[in-house]
Amino acid sequence: MKTTELKNMETLIALAKNRGFIFPGSEIYGGLANTWDYGPLGVELKNNVKREWWKYFVQEDRNSVGMDGGILMNPNVWVASGHVGGFSDPLMDCKSCKTRHRADHLLNDDSLPIEEMEKAILKKKINCPHCGKYDWTAIRQFNLMFKTERGVVDASLNTIYLRPETAQSQFVQFQNLQRSSRLKVPFGVGQVGKAFRNEVTPGNFTFRTIEFEQMEYQYFTQANDSMKDYEMFKSRAMDFYKTRLGLLPDRLRFTDHTNLSHYAKAAVDAEFKFPFGWGEIGGTHHRGTFDLGNHQEFSKKNMEYLDPTSNEKFVPTVIESSHGADRITLAVLANAYYEEQIAEDDTRVVLRFKPSVAPYKVAVLPLQKKGLTEKSDEVFSMLSKHFMTTYDDTASIGKRYRRQDEIGTPFCVTIDYETLEDNCVTIRDRDSMQQRRVKLDNLVAEIAKGLA
Ligand code: GAP
Repeated sequence: MKTTELKNMETLIALAKNRGFIFPGSEIYGGLANTWDYGPLGVELKNNVKREWWKYFVQEDRNSVGMDGGILMNPNVWVASGHVGGFSDPLMDCKSCKTRHRADHLLNDDSLPIEEMEKAILKKKINCPHCGKYDWTAIRQFNLMFKTERGVVDASLNTIYLRPETAQSQFVQFQNLQRSSRLKVPFGVGQVGKAFRNEVTPGNFTFRTIEFEQMEYQYFTQANDSMKDYEMFKSRAMDFYKTRLGLLPDRLRFTDHTNLSHYAKAAVDAEFKFPFGWGEIGGTHHRGTFDLGNHQEFSKKNMEYLDPTSNEKFVPTVIESSHGADRITLAVLANAYYEEQIAEDDTRVVLRFKPSVAPYKVAVLPLQKKGLTEKSDEVFSMLSKHFMTTYDDTASIGKRYRRQDEIGTPFCVTIDYETLEDNCVTIRDRDSMQQRRVKLDNLVAEIAKGLA
């Protein structure tokens, strides 16, 4: 059988829209750049990605707990974290067509200071990718945080920010988290939630958006152990992508940061090979004592930990395992896409999701509408108590199988007239397309076994 992988993003964007994974944001009003909405299948897929992450990083580790911090925080948090002063992109405008671009993206190099970037753009004579002219403004640093106002009295006194990363809640709540959970250093805190960045460059579908979800885990440890822990979390990230989400090993790689963020002592990106090239989906960051140290200095509240064994007090070092829920969901979608030529004139599109992330686990398909609805409803009701289940009684059975293949449903259950006699149904496997009869009494167990 000839199998073809995903070749371009347009194919995936069309499938995502047609099948209800992802729609352009505010489409009927002409859209809003770099915003997208998740449809019925997309919300299931992304929820499954987030659930797998939580299981791996929080639930299955007895030295881990979770939290859910607010999007809005005291603005001083962002002063202490360095985001007010340093969280910016180098932007330049094309004077001819008025489009805005990131200088580091134009150069494909984020390691240069601004003056060097300007010289390099001039030397290489990089034209505007939109209109093709060379007519740039100077580069300016543009802060990525979205501002909003609280209250109505004096806006200048009430500027607050939409958080650009989830991580800061774990830091500002460090003492509450440690005391209430009675965990000893080293321990970790996971969090999944929205973050916002005023990105101006084109997004490559959901890869770069202005509103996105992060899954971030902060590990509070001792300075002496921190490089060993950094390496451990690098391996854990890769293990998570491969074993829990089914991302193919040859589509994953690490790239060390050459230009470290303001907070990082060491940092590496985990990248996935998308049709448009390698793109960062997560990162492991050695944040040192930067965050807790700065919050201690700015808030004047003690951020030290008292080691009960050595009686020593210290500000813990942080290793961060950070993952983008939307980028990873996009990677899972791209990774799953195959076109399979199953006969000379017959090609099927199939999303070969790992069952744990598949939006629907099983589809109930009555062979005919007439006389089978009651039994099929019964089967749906039985299965849907255990698994995310869909129901389809339109079109031919062949077409319905293909529809389920295209949305990655691992199993189809067909009810036919014999079912009414022998209480057996047909299970059809997405990947092998093999079919077998099973007793209704064993159906839940059979599906559960197949998904495991
Ligand atoms: N707390 C560290 C931090 O925020 P980051 O590398 O800036 O680090 C972490 O972001 C992850 O968040 C990235 O690896 C990526 O998956 C995701 N992410 C960042 N910016 C994004 C954007 N504009 N759109 C979608 N996902 C984004």
